[in-house]
Amino acid sequence: MESRLKELQLEALKKIDEAIDLKQLNEVRVAYLGKKGPITEVLRGMGKLSAEERPKMGALANEVRGEIGQSLEKKQSKLERDAVEKQLASETIDVTLPGSPVKEGNHHPLTRVIEEIEDLFIGMGYQVAEGPEVEKDYYNFEALNLPKGHPARDMQDSFYITEEILLRTHTSPVQARTMEKHAGEGPVKIICPGKVYRRDSDDATHSHQFMQIEGLVIDENISMSDLKGTLQVFAKKIFGEEREIRLRPSFFPFTEPSVEMDISCKMCDGKGCSVCKRTGWIEILGAGMVHPNVLEMAGFDSKKYSGFAFGMGPERIAMLKYGVDDIRHFYTNDIRFLKQFHEHE
Ligand code: PHE
Repeated sequence: MESRLKELQLEALKKIDEAIDLKQLNEVRVAYLGKKGPITEVLRGMGKLSAEERPKMGALANEVRGEIGQSLEKKQSKLERDAVEKQLASETIDVTLPGSPVKEGNHHPLTRVIEEIEDLFIGMGYQVAEGPEVEKDYYNFEALNLPKGHPARDMQDSFYITEEILLRTHTSPVQARTMEKHAGEGPVKIICPGKVYRRDSDDATHSHQFMQIEGLVIDENISMSDLKGTLQVFAKKIFGEEREIRLRPSFFPFTEPSVEMDISCKMCDGKGCSVCKRTGWIEILGAGMVHPNVLEMAGFDSKKYSGFAFGMGPERIAMLKYGVDDIRHFYTNDIRFLKQFHEHE
C-alpha cells in the first residue's frame, strides 16, 4: 500500500509538471485528489490493515495528498503568471511604427463663408441674431412695409403653412423682430444668418431652400455713406482688396432708397467676360436705408433714428469665391466636392 501511494505521488507530480495550462492542471487535481481518485481508492483498503499500520498509512496518505496539493498550487501560480506575461508580450505596442492616418473632416464651404462674414462683422461691433424659420406673415411681410395684397409680395413666392404662417422667404423678419425687442431704443447692430425658403424650381442657380445673411444698423445719424463704407469693407475683405464696388438704384419695400451692390469682376478685372456677362460687374447683394414705415412699426421714432440694412446669399458668394457652377453642389454633399474645401492644406 505504501509503495502504491508513493507511486501515485510520483505519477501525480509528473502530470502536474507536464500540465501546460490551467485546464489540464485542474484535470490532474480532480483525477488524483478527487473522491473518485486512486488515493481515495487506496485508502478504502485501510480496513484490511493492522491497528498499528493504519495510522502510519493514514499519515503517509495525508503527506502524499499534501505534496500533490502544494505542487498543484505552485504550478497553478506559475501558469497564471505565464499567462499574464504572454498577454503582456502580445499586447506590447511598437511606438516606432508609423501611425494610421486620421481622416480629418472640414467645414462645409457654406459654413466657412458664413463664419468668415460673421467674424468680419463681429469685428466691427455687430451681434449675431437669429429668428424662426417658420415665421408669421406679419414679420415676414407686414412689419417690413409689405401689407397684404402688396404686389411686391410676388417677388418672393412663398410656402404658406396657414394663412398667417409661412416658411420665411428672407432673413429680413429678424430685422423686424430685433427692432421690436429694442422697443424704440438704439443703437441696433446685428447680422443674422439663416435658412430661407422660396417656391422656386431647383436649377443651377435656384434652390427652394437657401441661406441668407442680413445686416441691420440703427442709430442716430446713420446715413447712406455709412452703408456704402460698410459694404466697401465687406467686399474688399471677402473678395480681395482690389475689388471695387458700385451701388445701383433698386427697389425693396422695406428700404428707401434701395440699392443693389455689384463688385468688379475678379475673372476679367472689370474688363468684361462670360462670368460677369460682359458687364465687368457682378451683383452681390440688396441693401438700402431702412424705410421710415418699418422703423415706426417697430416703435422707433423715424425723426430721431435712421438705419441701413442689407441682405445677401452666402451660396452666391461661395460660388463666386470658389468658382462653383451649380448651387445644388452645396446641398447634395458629394464627398468629392466637399473634399476640395480643405482648410488645412
Ligand atoms: N430681403 C431682401 C431679399 O431677400 C434683401 C434685402 C435685405 C434688401 C435688406 C434690402 C435690405 O431680397
